[in-house]
Amino acid sequence: MTHQPQSLLVTGGAGFIGANFVHYWIQRYPAHRVTVLDALTYAGNIENLASLREQPHFRFVHGDIRDFDTIAQALRDAAVDTIVHFAAESHVDRSIHGPDAFIDANVLGTHTLLKAAKAVWLDRDNRAVHRFHHVSTDEVYGTLGPEDPPFEETTPYAPNSPYAASKAASDHLVRAYHHTYGLNTTTSNCSNNYGPYHFPEKLIPLLIVNMLAGKPLPVYGDGQQVRDWLHVEDHCRGIDRVIRHGNAGETYNIGGNNERPNMEIVTLLCGLMDDVFRHTPALGERFPQAPPTEGRSCAELITHVTDRPGHDRRYAINAQKAMQALGYRPEITFEDGLQQTLAWYLENETWWRRVMAGSYRDWVDLHYRDQTSPEATR
Ligand code: NAD
Ligand code: DAU
Repeated sequence: MTHQPQSLLVTGGAGFIGANFVHYWIQRYPAHRVTVLDALTYAGNIENLASLREQPHFRFVHGDIRDFDTIAQALRDAAVDTIVHFAAESHVDRSIHGPDAFIDANVLGTHTLLKAAKAVWLDRDNRAVHRFHHVSTDEVYGTLGPEDPPFEETTPYAPNSPYAASKAASDHLVRAYHHTYGLNTTTSNCSNNYGPYHFPEKLIPLLIVNMLAGKPLPVYGDGQQVRDWLHVEDHCRGIDRVIRHGNAGETYNIGGNNERPNMEIVTLLCGLMDDVFRHTPALGERFPQAPPTEGRSCAELITHVTDRPGHDRRYAINAQKAMQALGYRPEITFEDGLQQTLAWYLENETWWRRVMAGSYRDWVDLHYRDQTSPEATR
């Protein structure tokens, strides 16, 4: 049966995918109410939503998913019928240095959100029409060998990093709230996203900003780890389909059918950056440290560094279920998507300079001050 949302609560809507999703949704469904609830951690930027301030149906709540009362009130205030749950600690490297924050936000936070949804939708409103969509990751399935078939929804969970384990735990809680209490849940497990508003601690935006600053491009280990890259807008389209057409209690894999070794990404981006400088000489004045300013290639910045502990070798997604049952299809080719993303970072220098200042810098200093590890290059 089709679910028809009218009023959404988007947790983590000031982060990378959440913000893209909010823009996508408001553009596509301008009559719907959208409430964003976000704690504005280092990864959340209210600026990502600034252009929506005047939208009549948009509201921002500065709050934490571990705060039951705040969530329950937000659900009641806007008569929310659909939760889209993005809020999480999302960076694998950070989970290796400080797992506690991941358990707090991803496990306890998701559980508090589930409890509030149950209290308002099932207990108070006597099973009002609702949907709880949980945004998860392919990392819960663990790692693949070169010849293994891609992850399916039935692949056993085998999370390897504290981040992946915390997401796996949250997926199980969502499942349990459906099975035990009848909460109308769906879960999507997606592969690596890229696109606008991506925090420059993750591979693609980090490479872009380091090239512009003439800093080393840190490649973990041999750089032959494989990820399946998907443009964030395609992920949003997939989530839209799951929310409206997915079956309660089901999980859906979302991916780009676009497996690439990390070294290929690095080389591709270096080529794109060299080209863009060649065709736009004015960039040389803005970014004097970038190698192409002096006619050299960004590839000279590539630096192999110590590998990430427990680094998963390969992820790959089988998205047949979402394709067949929901009509999901990625629409943006990797080449177009990467070019658009690079153009976005060149146009939004103020954005990335600002998000990289402050607490993010403190974190890098704390953990990587004396090391010749990738973070030390930032
Ligand atoms: P992000 O780190 O960019 O954003 C996370 C957002 O959640 C931030 O706005 C942050 O302020 C907010 N947040 C964190 N803890 C919170 C709390 N306790 N209460 C309220 N808000 C809180 O993350 P992202 O890359 O946009 O990922 C969003 C979701 O998608 C996550 O659940 C992640 O596991 C999942 N996911 C990400 C990818 C990817 O490639 N980035 C792929 C698949 C799934
Ligand atoms: O697969 C989905 C996951 O993708 C999401 O659940 C996570 O939230 C998201 O952060 C992402 O995790 P990854 O660990 O795959 O993304 P990251 O950008 O950190 O790294 C991508 C690959 O690049 C990975 O193999 C590690 C490598 N890498 C990363 C960084 C930051 C480097 O070689 N150098 C780097 O400096």
